[in-house]
Amino acid sequence: MPDQATTTFRPRVLSGMRPTGKLHLGNYMGALANWVKLQDNYECYFFIADLHALTTDYADTSAIAPNTLEVALDFLGAGLDPEKSTIFVQSQVKQHYELPLLLGMITPLGWLERVPSYKEMIENLAHKDLTTYGFLGYPVLMASDILLYQPQFVPVGQDQQAHVELTREIARRFNQFYKLADREVLPEPKVLLTPSPKLPGTDGRKMSKSYGNTIQITDPEPVVRQKLKTMVTDPARVRRTDKGDPDKCPVGDLHKVFSTPETLAKVYEGCRSAGIGCIECKGWAADGLVQVLNPIQERRASFTEPQVVEILHAGSGRARKRAEQTMQEVHTAMQLTLTGAAS
Ligand code: TRP
Ligand code: SF4
Repeated sequence: MPDQATTTFRPRVLSGMRPTGKLHLGNYMGALANWVKLQDNYECYFFIADLHALTTDYADTSAIAPNTLEVALDFLGAGLDPEKSTIFVQSQVKQHYELPLLLGMITPLGWLERVPSYKEMIENLAHKDLTTYGFLGYPVLMASDILLYQPQFVPVGQDQQAHVELTREIARRFNQFYKLADREVLPEPKVLLTPSPKLPGTDGRKMSKSYGNTIQITDPEPVVRQKLKTMVTDPARVRRTDKGDPDKCPVGDLHKVFSTPETLAKVYEGCRSAGIGCIECKGWAADGLVQVLNPIQERRASFTEPQVVEILHAGSGRARKRAEQTMQEVHTAMQLTLTGAAS
C-alpha cells in the first residue's frame, strides 16, 4: 500500500504540550482531540516540550521524565498514531538547543518583555525565581520549536496565539537579515485555532491542574462518578423542588460537550421543571464522560512503557532528520559554513 505521506502533498502542522503529568479532560478536548482529527489530512509533528518545563522547574527536574512518559501515553490513548504522526520529545532532538541560540541573537528584548503572560507568570509563580534568562527566552524556544519544522500551521488554543504571533515576527526578522537565493528559510506559520469548548472543573471554574478541579483522562469510572457527585450546580437550585437552568450550571456545560442530543433535551426539560434531581442528572453526565474515556483508557493500557519509549525514540529520530534539514538552510543563509567562505 502506498504511503500517503509520500504520495500526496499535505500541509505540515506542528504542535506541542508541556509535560505537566497526566492530562485532564480539558487538555483532551482543547487540544488532543483536535490533533487526532488532523492526522489524516496533514503531515503532523506533535511533541512533548520537556525543555519548556525547565523554564519554570529547573530547580527540581525529577518529575519531568516521568511526566513526559505519562503525557506520551495520553497522546497514544487519545488516538495519536505513530504510523501517521511524528511523535517526539523535544530534549531528544538537539536542534531544539541549537536554533534558539541563533534566533536569540536577533530577538529584541522588548519583544520578550512585552509577551502578555511574562509578567503575569512571574507574579503567579512567586515562589519560584523566574528572573532567569531561560524564562524570558521561553518564546524564543517556542519559536524555534515551530520554525525548525517549517510548518504551514500551528494548531493551538487561544492562550498560545500570542506566542505564535511572536514566532511569525521572529521569522520575518530572520528572513530580512538572512536569505537563500531560491526560497525563504523560515516561512511564517499560521495559527490553526483549535476549537475548545468551555470545560468547567468540579468547582465550576475552568478545568485546570492548578485549581485541583480536574477530571483526568485516566480516572476510572467510579472516580469520575464520585467527582461528578461533588460537582457544583446551578446555585439557584438549592432544594430538589427548586427549578434550575442548565445554562447556569457547570454540569449542564459538561452535558453540552459529552451527552447525546436526547439526553441534553431531557436535562433541559427536567432541570427547568424540577422534574429531575441533580444526582440523577449528574449520573447521566457521568455516563457521557465514561463513553468518551473508556476507549481512550483501553488504548492507553495497551501500550507498555518500553513500547512508548521505542515510539518516542523512533519519532525523535524522524524529527531530527527534518529539523536538521532546516538547520542546514539556516547555517547556509547565515553564512556559518566554512566551505566557500574564502572564495
Ligand atoms: N507553550 C506551549 C504550552 O504551554 C507548549 C509549546 C512549546 C508549544 N512549544 C510549542 C505549542 C510549539 C505549540 C508549538 O502549552
Ligand atoms: Fe445542573 Fe443538572 Fe442540577 Fe440542572 S439538574 S442544576 S443541569 S446538575
